[in-house]
Amino acid sequence: MDESAILRVGDNEYSLPILTGSEGEKALDISNLRKDTGLITYDNGFGNTGSCRSAITFIDGEKGILRYRGYDIDELAEHSSFVETAYLLLYGVLPTSEELRQFSRVLNESSLIHEDMHHFFTGFPRTAHPMGILSTMVASLAAFYPIPDEPTTEEEQYILGSLISQVRTIAAFSYKKSIGDPIVYPSIHCRFVENFMNMMFSSPVKEYRTDPDLLRAVEVFLILHADHEQNCSTSTVRMTGSSLANLYAVVSAGISALWGKRHGGANQAVIEMLQRIHQSGDDGRKFSEQAKSGKGSERLMGFGHRVYKNYDPRATVLKKICHRVLNKDGVSDPLFDIALRLEEAALSEDYFLKRNLYPNVDFYSGLILRAVGIPQDMFTVLFTIGRMPGWLARWREMHLEPGLRIARPRQIYTGENKRNYVPIKDR
Ligand code: CMC
Repeated sequence: MDESAILRVGDNEYSLPILTGSEGEKALDISNLRKDTGLITYDNGFGNTGSCRSAITFIDGEKGILRYRGYDIDELAEHSSFVETAYLLLYGVLPTSEELRQFSRVLNESSLIHEDMHHFFTGFPRTAHPMGILSTMVASLAAFYPIPDEPTTEEEQYILGSLISQVRTIAAFSYKKSIGDPIVYPSIHCRFVENFMNMMFSSPVKEYRTDPDLLRAVEVFLILHADHEQNCSTSTVRMTGSSLANLYAVVSAGISALWGKRHGGANQAVIEMLQRIHQSGDDGRKFSEQAKSGKGSERLMGFGHRVYKNYDPRATVLKKICHRVLNKDGVSDPLFDIALRLEEAALSEDYFLKRNLYPNVDFYSGLILRAVGIPQDMFTVLFTIGRMPGWLARWREMHLEPGLRIARPRQIYTGENKRNYVPIKDR
């Protein structure tokens, strides 16, 4: 029997259908609420709003579960590659060897950006934040790579694959430009992550070589960031995409939303916070005391999550990688010790426990990126490279859905009531 809930407004009763997801989660269907009752809902920050149906990612925030297309995140982090995970998110199944080979070929062949775009990088000041550059450059791809109105399946796969690949190329080029080095082109001989690291760190006078464990750490970082349900940037992608805007503009909007330090920008903010603590000689306790004020930049960055009311499963994987990578010969980081003490201090405080504030994905991720030599202001760019498959999978899912509607929330107006215009001389 279909479930429903009864809403009583004054003397009237309305029946609201209850929808059930494949993991048993329930939602009130209010599609006809305004038409039937004249009411709208109010949900500050959308904490209780399901904005769509989706078959891509499942999160149980209470239990700390995250699955892409049914596969647990720690299993993917253990066994999968970023390219395979991207395919899984986009197309819903793990690829066969042939499908993976074909998809990797698309990523490789489409990894260049138009040579005329190289000039754009020189227009930015050296101090420009790479997220601003990335967002601008991705929007400009629209001018160079027009998208057909109704692409074939092959064309669509090429467009989605090339975006994943070109974002990585733009990221590395912007870094090279910022340090005044010549850009390094992608290589047909490298796999996805190695290609990125090679574009970032090799030069005509220096070969790039790194430890395979460090390369794998970056790969796992990307897998863990590949999708995360309806977060701020993903919702931005869906919202922008719902107006049928150009896909490059849609992704550029997602990048802008991700940049904020309550979202993807938190990975950079965590390291800045750990550095401040290090410089002040605090062992973390003083800072966790301060963070209880819960205000603005005083927040404990890398802690808390809208959905997880438990340890973020991605943070569990990243913490383990930190132990592995930061215990390697020649690699040590005092900021890791501070992070561990800070976590211990915070998790013994009532303030954090009562509010279910635990480390999130950003708490340990920056320490790994530091260990592989990624500059701090590129951390959120790495998050972006990772998140590309998720954004694109959701854009694709949204367009395959029948009856796509433009996203258009309502509001409760709290401004002035009608008043008459006053000519300037009488004001
Ligand atoms: N440090 C101190 N207090 C906090 C923190 C924190 N990191 N996070 C939340 N609180 C407090 C907040 O002050 C509020 O307290 P009270 O109930 O007394 O007013 C309570 O906890 C609930 O916070 P909220 O802001 O209503 O929670 P939210 O779900 O709207 O925000 C969040 C989630 C992630 C924005 C927030 O926890 C935060 O700002 N964390 C720090 C930034 C961060 O690490 N962001 C990365 C998020 S995970 C990856 C991603 O999305 O990109």
